[in-house]
Amino acid sequence: MLSIKWDDTYCNGIPLLDTQNKNFVEMLNLLFEYQDTNPDTSLLYQKFREVETYAREHFRREELFLEQFYPDELADHRSQHSLFLDNLKCFSCTVVSDGPDAVNDLSCYIRDWAVIHIGFMDKSITSCIKIPTPTI
Ligand SMILES: [Fe+2]
Repeated sequence: MLSIKWDDTYCNGIPLLDTQNKNFVEMLNLLFEYQDTNPDTSLLYQKFREVETYAREHFRREELFLEQFYPDELADHRSQHSLFLDNLKCFSCTVVSDGPDAVNDLSCYIRDWAVIHIGFMDKSITSCIKIPTPTI
């Protein structure tokens, strides 16, 4: 079964973002679990759409945070989030017609994207803190 094992290596030290990312991962794990026990692709299509809705709101909050505290990071994140949502929407439409292989391909894409995005891109946010130059 696909899954993402959450641990502190995904954290960037910003509690708001870490909590939201952890919740997002929990939702994805529920999707992967559901996928293994429910072969009905029409229901799985609905689950993928629920993940899309959840992700859209999750990304919106993250982008608001970035806009406020890390504006230099916003453009890259926004484009990555947008690409993910576009792919999720596009590929979830193929699930009903193409069956279990399409489900598995899409879930693998979601898992891989989340691991890389959260583990590297979101995690690197805190490395972008501008340290003011001390004046003597
Ligand atoms: Fe992000």
